[in-house]
This record gives sequence, structure tokens and C-alpha cells, in this order.
Amino acid sequence: MSSILLIGLGDLGSLVLELLAREPHVERIVVGSRDRERAIARCNLARLGALAQGYEPSIEFSEIDLAELDWTCKTIERFAPDLILSTASMLTWWIPDLLPAQQAARLKRAKFGVWLPVHLAPTLRLMEAVREVGYRGHTLIAPYPDVVNCILGRLGLAPTCGVGNIDEIVPKLRLLAAERLGVVPRAVDVTLVAHHALERFAFSGADADTPPYFLRIEQEGFDVTRDVRAEQLLLTPYPLPPGRTTHFLTAGSVVRLVKALLSDEETFLHAPGPCGWPGGYPVIAGRAGVRPAPIPSLSPQEAIAINERSHWFDGIERIEEDGGVVFDPEAAAVLHETLGYLGRRLAPDEAADRAHELVARMVEYASKHGVRIEQRAARGPHP
Ligand SMILES: NC(=O)c1ccc[n+]([C@@H]2O[C@H](COP(=O)([O-])OP(=O)(O)OC[C@H]3O[C@@H](n4cnc5c(N)ncnc54)[C@H](OP(=O)(O)O)[C@@H]3O)[C@@H](O)[C@H]2O)c1
Repeated sequence: MSSILLIGLGDLGSLVLELLAREPHVERIVVGSRDRERAIARCNLARLGALAQGYEPSIEFSEIDLAELDWTCKTIERFAPDLILSTASMLTWWIPDLLPAQQAARLKRAKFGVWLPVHLAPTLRLMEAVREVGYRGHTLIAPYPDVVNCILGRLGLAPTCGVGNIDEIVPKLRLLAAERLGVVPRAVDVTLVAHHALERFAFSGADADTPPYFLRIEQEGFDVTRDVRAEQLLLTPYPLPPGRTTHFLTAGSVVRLVKALLSDEETFLHAPGPCGWPGGYPVIAGRAGVRPAPIPSLSPQEAIAINERSHWFDGIERIEEDGGVVFDPEAAAVLHETLGYLGRRLAPDEAADRAHELVARMVEYASKHGVRIEQRAARGPHP
């Protein structure tokens, strides 16, 4: 029986809460959010839904603002959870899609990486708190772990690993390979090394310039990568509903990883950002933590190099030894032209200020184009 501190009760966090509430081995869930009213209502819904389905989890709410280090430290110490899962971000990935099509398309040219400050800022504060209190449990990160965890790793603050991303591509591959082989998906094993940047190609189809990756597919232990034409399977379009509805996929992957980390047995799966590495890898997860799984014919250095080369496809030129991030000049120029935001390099200790600026400029830009965005980042803590 286990306890989880779930921080961030937005779209993904709320969905994960609903699924975890129906997991028999999760005994206690503490939900950390800044928004007392919304969170209490969400916790009530999860409790009742779980009970209606036959489960009786303990779900409680605790006010938390990751911007407040002492507060976060006290919350971690007070609840001493087995696992912390953070879905806290100052501006989530699907917000630019709320803009009119023309403006959304213009912003998309900047690529995902330029939004790094809004994902890094709360996560950095969380990991500082984790270090401060000497927390020994597992820490899972939802906000852009392919890059955020790598920066945290350079700062000596690496979480256990990230969630989603690479592990959202793998089910597609298992399903399509199984169809091609005429077997059930559980007979198929996938070994994939890939970055967040590859995900849109894996669902929308190939481009002239596709990020690098490593892929091997096995059936009952035999390499069938060529037989199933694995590359074609990877890049075959596989339409999904647009926007945050895909969080059902992410949440499924989160719950499997959480269960693996709370289990006495080890599970082979995929996760982004283990050990503070860039991008995603096959990993082995169990109560002792997460470690990269050995890959036939690919060394850890080669795997890391694949994902380092992939940063560029997300608009990130490089991550430096001190955790500083240099953005691709073209990507940075798009944000300058559209939002008036200037940011070619980001030092980790500037993340919070830069995130606030980015959010404020985005809110202003959206409002100019007739879209009202709730400015979460501006909301203060409730004493
Ligand atoms: N890895 C993956 O595969 C994957 C998939 C989907 C999404 N994501 C990422 O997961 C994150 C969450 O996505 P979402 O769509 O759920 O976002 P969302 O709906 O905007 O929710 C974000 C939450 O973060 C909380 N938050 C922001 N600043 C905080 C702070 N200082 N302290 C505590 N909480 C804070 C907000 O809390 P309040 O309620 O207190 O305002 C809000 O509930 C984003 O980074 C998104 O890009 C990752």
C-alpha cells in the first residue's frame, strides 16, 4: 500500500487523479494545488467516482505553491509520500492551440522548446525542495521532462524520471506491429530511443527532416524490425483527437509507471529523462527506482547522442554544462516577432522571471486576438 503526492491539478493532473483513485494498490493520494475551491471539488469527484466503481481511496487536499520553497518543503515532510508526481506548469502545451488558426500556426513555427521556462520554473523549485528536505522517494515529472530533467541533472537535481512522451509512441508501435504480424500486442516488444521532438512525426507522419531515433521490434524474443518495416510503422500517421484529449494516453502511461515504481517486481517500459538524460529511453522500473535498460547493439553514449541531436528539432540548440539552454535562433526569432519576447539563452536561475514574462506576453497576445487565457502564473498563493 502506497501514498502519492500529486502536485498540479490542471487537465492532466485531474485525469491522473481519477485513474489513480481507482488503483487498488494506491492507498493515499494527497493533492497539492493553489486553487482550494477547485481542488476540493475535484477531490470530491474522484472520491465519489472511485467509490461508485468499488474503490475506497483516501484522497485529501493540501494547498501548495511551488514558488514557495518552505511551504513545499513542509508539505513533503508532513506527508512523506512514497512518490511525488508533478504536473505543475505555468502555461501548458495546448494553450497556443486556443488562438485563431493563423496566430496558432505562426506560434507553432517557434517549436515547443522555446516554452521551456514555463515548464522548468515550477519543476526546478520542486526539486530544490526535494533536495532541501533530503526526500528519498520517487519523483516523476510531467512538464517537458526530455529537456527539463536534463537541465535538472546538470544541476545535481535529477528526478527519478519523466512521464509520457516516448511512452506514448510505444503503444502505437506495439499495436501496429502486432496487426502486421497477426499476433496480440503482448507478443510484441518495442525498444525505442526517442525525444519528445519525434512524437508529432509519430502521429502526424514523416517530414523531410525527422529527428533521429533507435527502434527495434521483437516478437517472442526474435528481432522482427525489418519484417514489420518498423520505420514505416513509426512514421505512419495515426490520427488522434486534437489537444488535451490526448491526456487519456499520457495518463495511462503515468499510471503504469507509478504502479511499476510501487511494485516489488521490475517492469520494462519507456520513460523520458531517466538519470537526468536528455530525451526518452527504454527503462526498468521497480521499487528501487528507474534505470536505463540495456539496448542490444547501442551503447548508452550512442543513445544519449541520438537525443542530444534531437533537441534541435524542438528549437533547442544545446544544453550547456551549467544547465544553461541556448535556443535555436530561428525559433527564438519567432517568439520575438509574435510576442515581443526576447530570449536566446536561458540560465536556470532566470527560469521563474522569464516564465512570468512569457506568460504575460502570451496572455496579452491572445487577448489582442480575441482569446482570454486564464493567467495561472499570476495567481498568488492562498495564505
Ligand atoms: N510528458 C507528457 O507526456 C505530457 C503530456 C501532457 C502534458 N504534459 C505537461 O504536463 C504539464 C501539465 O499539463 P496540463 O495540461 O495539465 O496543464 P494545466 O491544465 O495548465 O495545469 C497545470 C497546473 O499547474 C499548476 N501550477 C502552476 N504553477 C504552480 C505552482 N507555482 N505551484 C503549484 N501548482 C502550480 C496549476 O495549478 P493551480 O491549479 O494551482 O493554478 C495547474 O493546475 C504541462 O507542462 C504539459 O506540457 C506532459
